[in-house]
Amino acid sequence: MSASQKQLFGLFAHPVGHSLSPVMHNRAFQALGLPFYYHPFDIPPERLPEAVAGLKALGIRGINVTIPHKENIVPLLDELDPEAEAIGAVNTVVLSETGRLVGYNTDGAGYVQSLLSETGINLKETNVLLLGAGGAAKAIAVYLIKHGCASLTIANRTEHKAETLAHHVQRYAAQSHDGKGSSSPVRINVHSWSQLDRDGVKAYQLIINTTPVGMWPNVGHVPLELKELSPGTIVSDIVYNPLQTAFLKAAEQRGAQVHQGLGMFIFQGALAFKLFTGYEAPLEVMRKVVEDQLN
Ligand code: ATR
Repeated sequence: MSASQKQLFGLFAHPVGHSLSPVMHNRAFQALGLPFYYHPFDIPPERLPEAVAGLKALGIRGINVTIPHKENIVPLLDELDPEAEAIGAVNTVVLSETGRLVGYNTDGAGYVQSLLSETGINLKETNVLLLGAGGAAKAIAVYLIKHGCASLTIANRTEHKAETLAHHVQRYAAQSHDGKGSSSPVRINVHSWSQLDRDGVKAYQLIINTTPVGMWPNVGHVPLELKELSPGTIVSDIVYNPLQTAFLKAAEQRGAQVHQGLGMFIFQGALAFKLFTGYEAPLEVMRKVVEDQLN
């Protein structure tokens, strides 16, 4: 089949060079025998409006969006899915059959799917400590609330950002609780970062690092010293390069179950793949091609 007969998908980023999404999606298309192609587009911030307007004219069926466009693309779309709206950021855009650009955020959903499938956790009985208050933390917080974790405590180096995030997700929690009626609303708290060291983390059954601390090349760094953990605690890191961060190594030494960040990347891609194609993603094919690139 010639290139001109293929349906086009892509990634908008700046810079775009290091992303593993093109190889992951192209291998997945190949595995399912789909005549699709996924292309990385380097879009500087000032040209994002032109690039988005061009999607319809070019007939591009879907794109992923990453740094620095996830928030700036929101006002350029025709429709947002409710969770993307609550998060205020989009990582997947699909051109609907009626020709509308619809924005989704598969980061938070991808995180929770990976967590549930890889750890067997029961979120309804879990008090969660979320480290960090950036875009990834916001996406994850919304989906933890959607899945009804028992409580969510946010700690961030810059405390006022933890408070802003807590207020933001509180609104989402109240709305989703009203919608459901019966179950009790998720308790949302802020813990001062400096005091975490003193208080310890025994009150939490799931601790999630959403900061970039420990990411290659700063591989020896940890966001927080884990002194004492409760038995059965799960420690999770969204950093996936390296696959086993210093934080996860320290957690494992203290007897915790660990959850690596690669799953979030694979599942966010798999959810985008389903939105793009309507087919279930070949998860293991996607995981293998990404692992091969990281090794
Ligand atoms: P993203 O949008 O990808 O989540 P971000 O918005 O840059 O990334 O957020 C990074 C988060 O990691 C922030 O919460 C940041 O804390 P500050 O709000 O204090 O900047 C946190 N972070 C980054 N470097 C950190 C470090 N060395 N120690 C602790 N937290 C750090």
